[in-house]
Amino acid sequence: MSDGMNGMPNMMSIEGGIPLAGTVRAQGAKNAALPVMAACLLLKGQTLTLDNVPDLQDVRTMVELLEALGVTVEKEPQGRMRFSVPEEVSPEAPEAQVRKMRASSLVLGPLLARGGQAALPLPGGCSIGSRPIDLHLKGLVQMGAKIEIRSGVVYAQADQLRGRRIYLDFPSVGATENLMMAAALAHGETIIENIAREPEIDNLAAVLGSMGVPIEIEGTGCVRIKGVSEVHSGNERVIPDRIEACTYLLAGVMTGGQVTVTDVVPAHFGSMLAKLEEAGARFSVRRDAVTVFPAERLQSLSLKTMPFPGFPTDLQPQMVATLSLASGVSMVEESVFQARFLYAEELNRMGANIRIKGNTAVISGVRQLHGDDVKATDLRAGAALILAGLTASGQTRVGEMIHVWRGYEAIDEKLRSLGARVELITEETK
Ligand code: EPZ
Repeated sequence: MSDGMNGMPNMMSIEGGIPLAGTVRAQGAKNAALPVMAACLLLKGQTLTLDNVPDLQDVRTMVELLEALGVTVEKEPQGRMRFSVPEEVSPEAPEAQVRKMRASSLVLGPLLARGGQAALPLPGGCSIGSRPIDLHLKGLVQMGAKIEIRSGVVYAQADQLRGRRIYLDFPSVGATENLMMAAALAHGETIIENIAREPEIDNLAAVLGSMGVPIEIEGTGCVRIKGVSEVHSGNERVIPDRIEACTYLLAGVMTGGQVTVTDVVPAHFGSMLAKLEEAGARFSVRRDAVTVFPAERLQSLSLKTMPFPGFPTDLQPQMVATLSLASGVSMVEESVFQARFLYAEELNRMGANIRIKGNTAVISGVRQLHGDDVKATDLRAGAALILAGLTASGQTRVGEMIHVWRGYEAIDEKLRSLGARVELITEETK
């Protein structure tokens, strides 16, 4: 088994059946860190300081990308990062990083806004869908950009972006973020309607605000941004990772243990806790911590993934794994991505009984899963297989951990701190 990207072991072995117990601290949110890191490109000769940046592969990829554009990035202790941006940066996002990570497309808006041009290789699709950026491009054109796509590269040009009223046909997280950053340096006010309402959007608004951009998010899914001629050094903290936190809570639920996650914002969990309560899980919520307790076998339920505050698509695989042990038949519909059930076959190898019908997983609960050798197909699928391994009888070996290291900081250490028996397998110890 070859080592994963950046030398991290590409396989994790799990001895299942141990009720987890203990407390873990949530990492900084991957999906907040990536856009707010890209926002530094709006600066000229200034610095953005971010706290609570998680130590993840995707963050390292974004650092590589920003450095390739000319930004100096300094990592300090305790998750603090400083981004010193020169007067001039390169407008061309290198293919290497874009191919590795779709979120690289988030440099498009700030590069165009600060320098009048940008070149971005079209981000590839991935195992959960085609992942187009048509909504990003449509909004930039409305703001006056000229967009050309030649040989798979998006070339954007705009002498001066102009504030506009933009309606998003879908509350796309990435499109909302790219257009907010573009609007920061546009001439005049931009109003974006039907924006994504994920908490990561508020984090980006706070970072732009710290850089001197007058920005107001209204409860109706609308944001107003008054463009400025230049932004100044900013300083903000990355919010906690709600998806990582809920993954550990589900680990507690699935193993019948007692797990506390701290440094979280429970309000960011959206409908996740409501669905857990509906299924019969027991938990307590405090200002910045949530604890799950042992409970009777979960009841089946139906859910549909939706943009925030609906049930998050990024928790869908982990919830399907959890419901694979519930009593009765559960229905989980994936409405955000086209194909996010690739992992179901892997769970079925472990004894789950999941049938995929269109974009719905029909899950007939079983009493027990058994360990097996399985492979992660994407970040959250990998997390789901790890959860299954923690509760399965015997040993589970999860391959392609390369996906998991993208979004779960030190997941082996965190699970061991909760009493799990997990080992990383590298080339030598295969
Ligand atoms: C962000 O991706 C997250 N990534 C995803 O997390 C998350 O699943 C997704 O939002 C939804 O919450 C980051 O924040 C880095 P979208 P993004 O634009 O911005 C379609 C994870 O596991 N669409 O809201 O790409 C798109 O194809 C990752 O951490 C268009 O059709 O999500 C998808 O079906 C996975 N045209 C849907 O909208 C566009 O121009 C949602 O996409 C843009 C999107």
